[in-house]
Amino acid sequence: MTAAPYVPETRSLRVLADAVQACRGCELYRDTTQAVFGDGARRAATMVVGEQPGDREDLAGEPFVGPAGKVLDRALGDAGFDRRSVWLTNVVKHFAFRRQQGSKRRIHRKPGRTEIVACRPWLDAELRVVRPSLVVCLGATAAQALLGSSFRVSRRRGELITAELGEPPRSVDVVATVHPSAVLRSDDRKRAYAALVDDLRVARAAAG
Ligand code: URA
Repeated sequence: MTAAPYVPETRSLRVLADAVQACRGCELYRDTTQAVFGDGARRAATMVVGEQPGDREDLAGEPFVGPAGKVLDRALGDAGFDRRSVWLTNVVKHFAFRRQQGSKRRIHRKPGRTEIVACRPWLDAELRVVRPSLVVCLGATAAQALLGSSFRVSRRRGELITAELGEPPRSVDVVATVHPSAVLRSDDRKRAYAALVDDLRVARAAAG
């Protein structure tokens, strides 16, 4: 399974965003409303990469518009970023979920390795067109997809790392941190939020 045949050779994010709707590179498209492509500033110096769209994003067609997105917006602002000046995207472009038994509720599930690998050509296309100098990984799915499966966010969060990213590979600064949904799940939200902002401040300083 791969999205590769569905990704057009183009420098246009608009063309990519249209094309992703026809992606059949994995099975996720079958049960979702739509694909959710990245969004933001075309030539953003900073790309923020999450895991996958959630329920709200699937319905809206835009990344990070649900509860985790609200946390992210506030944290980016508190760290000195302007959300409109970054490119926000996800490792996987369709919502992976399971149905709660006897209910219509869609429960987020982690995308599998096959889905992550299949979807990668879309992220590589975004990296090629946006050409960020800094990438922020939100959570383990994004960090391991970009920095390798042995990467541990718990050990290396907030660290400025240089990595070869994209296809063709390009040297980029990377900062990994927790996913904003982890702040929402935390017993000590205030502290978890402050730690997220601290990590984003490292990224902000690197972005110049
Ligand atoms: N979580 C993500 O990782 N991405 C979104 O777009 C929304 C929630």
